[in-house]
Amino acid sequence: MGRFVLAAGVASLVLLCVAAASGQQPKDGEQIMNAACGSCHDTTSIQTAARNEKEWSETVDQMVARGATLSDADRPILIAYLARAYGPMPDGPGKDIVLNTCTICHDRTRITRSRHTEEEWEGTLIAMLNEGAQLSDEDFPIVLRYLVKNYGAN
Ligand code: HEC
Ligand code: HEC
Repeated sequence: MGRFVLAAGVASLVLLCVAAASGQQPKDGEQIMNAACGSCHDTTSIQTAARNEKEWSETVDQMVARGATLSDADRPILIAYLARAYGPMPDGPGKDIVLNTCTICHDRTRITRSRHTEEEWEGTLIAMLNEGAQLSDEDFPIVLRYLVKNYGAN
């Protein structure tokens, strides 16, 4: 068993070295996205979308029909990446504001991976206003409620 694991480890190390030596690192989803999706428009339309795998697959098909270049090998990697990084978010007031206002300076995973109390979220929102986020007085409590409800700390 131990010897098998060691052998498997050595084998994958050798594979990695071969890949590195030949300059053929496997492409990751983000690289594919930048190459395939960045030529006609910036990634704002992607950043502000929240879709599941099936929906992203339809979007990608539409973009290919419009002229996006994507190999058959890269397609599933891209779709899995999109569904992971730009997957569905809970519906409700505040969702669209978060998608449109909070993805301008950083990816939304910054937000959706964290769990905070109401007090902490309020502090974060104030810090974001200080960073320059365009969050209006009306939208502030709506976004705060959305974040506490969906990304609150229990
Ligand atoms: C050949 C040009 C081109 C490329 C390359 C391209 N797009 Fe688009 N995309 C468009 C055009 C034109 C629109 C606006 C028309 C529309 O809304 O369908 C658009 C709009 C969009 C939208 C907003 C509309 C919607 O579905 O909500 C999304 C999201 C999107 N593209 C994602 C992508 C992704 C993901 C890729 C990479 C696979 C990509 N695009 C590559 C031309 C392109
Ligand atoms: C004008 C640019 C900008 C906008 C817009 C923006 N942020 Fe940020 N955000 C930042 C910067 C810069 C940091 C990193 C600050 C740091 O690490 O000290 C950050 C970090 C964060 C973090 C991580 C903070 C932590 O302590 O881990 C969260 C959560 C966050 N932002 C939420 C949001 C939300 C929610 C919105 C929408 C209301 C938003 N951001 C909009 C600039 C922005």
